[in-house]
This record gives sequence, structure tokens and C-alpha cells, in this order.
Amino acid sequence: MVRGQQQKNPPLRLAVFASGTGSNFRAIVDSIEDGKLNAVVVGLISNNPDAGAIVFAESKQIPCEIVNKKRYPDESEHDAKILNILEQWKTNFIILAGYMKMINPLIVEKYKNRILNIHPALLPSFGGKGMYGLHVHEAVIEYGVKFSGVTVHIVNNEYDAGPVVLQRVVPVLDDDTPQSLQQRILKEEHIIYTEAIQLFAENRITVSGRRVFVQRDHAKN
Ligand code: GRF
Repeated sequence: MVRGQQQKNPPLRLAVFASGTGSNFRAIVDSIEDGKLNAVVVGLISNNPDAGAIVFAESKQIPCEIVNKKRYPDESEHDAKILNILEQWKTNFIILAGYMKMINPLIVEKYKNRILNIHPALLPSFGGKGMYGLHVHEAVIEYGVKFSGVTVHIVNNEYDAGPVVLQRVVPVLDDDTPQSLQQRILKEEHIIYTEAIQLFAENRITVSGRRVFVQRDHAKN
């Protein structure tokens, strides 16, 4: 395509799933407002009524739905509810931002290669079940690796195991505590998540088996 003639893709319609503070969710909303991300957040789904993410969503008038075991004890009803909400919002892309629950395989299939997760380490190291929050950074420091980082990956039916979209390296310092490392990594998460989502918004991602290829941006070269 000739420079200057690119057609802008329609904005991604993102549903964000978050269970906690929601700093990544906030960073995504900020990126949209700053014009760095061609997307709209159509809504937030949380399993935790006390999530900070909900307070932020409400402050931005972003629709919120709480779907959890307490409200939907029946697993299939729980998952049907989520699917129904996603359809209602005309979602075409899903962002997991600290969502502490496995996504049902039916949803993974329906949104194949269109669900992203962010993990605060360099996968496949320090990932998998039980590796969340400070546990990740404790394990990294205890092991003694000199570098950790961030991984954005496509979600499949295993914990932290889908194809890797982007990674960023963050040094582990001698005097790091799990908390200080977490903070340094979180800053990087806020940058890299937007970058990864924008690649999808620009249709520059191809997935082949486990490998994710990013098409170069000719306009910038
Ligand atoms: C982040 O560290 C992310 O990598 C992990 O969960 C944490 C969520 O943090 N998946 P926040 O709620 O976005 O602040």
C-alpha cells in the first residue's frame, strides 16, 4: 500500500477481565485516551466485587459486570453468562489484566488468537499455576536469575502457556525485594501491553503454531 493511503482499521472492541488493582487496565484506558491505542473498552468483567479495577471503570463510565462462583455457582451458567455479556458488548478482543481465573475453552475457541494475557516474568520461566502476584517475584529472586521481565501472550487452555507476542527484559538488582522488582516490572507492563494490543489493532500479527510474527511497519521506515 502506498504511504499515506493506509485505511485505518476500526477500533478493537476490548472487553477487559480484571480481579485486582487494575493498573494495567488503567494504563490501557490512558493509552486509548492519549491516542496510542486504536480501541474502545466496551466493558470490564471481574470476579471480585472489591476489585480496584471496578472503581476505576465506574469513574470512567465503563460498563462493569461481576461474574463469580458466588453469583453463578453452576460452572456452565457462569461461562454462559460471560459469553452472553461479551456478545452484548459486541466484543471482538479480550484483555486479561490480572484476572485470577482460567478462561473457559469455549470462549478461548470463540476468540481464537484474540485473547491476550500479561505475565510479570519471562515465560516459560516462572509461570503456571500458583505463579501470580508477589509469588512470581519471590521465586525469581530466590532462584537468583539476573533478569526477569514481562511477557504478553495469547491465551490458550493452559496457564501462561500460549504463544508469546512480546517480551521485555527487566534487570533483577542485588538489593531487590519482591516488591521493588514488582514495581519495576509493572512500569514496563504498562508500556508493553498497549504496544501488543496496538499490533493487533493494526492487523500486523500472524500466528503460526507457537510462533507469533509481527509485520514491520513500513510507514515508519
Ligand atoms: C500484573 O502483574 C500482571 O502481569 C498479572 O497480574 C498483575 C495485575 O496487576 N497478570 P494490575 O491489577 O494490572 O495492577
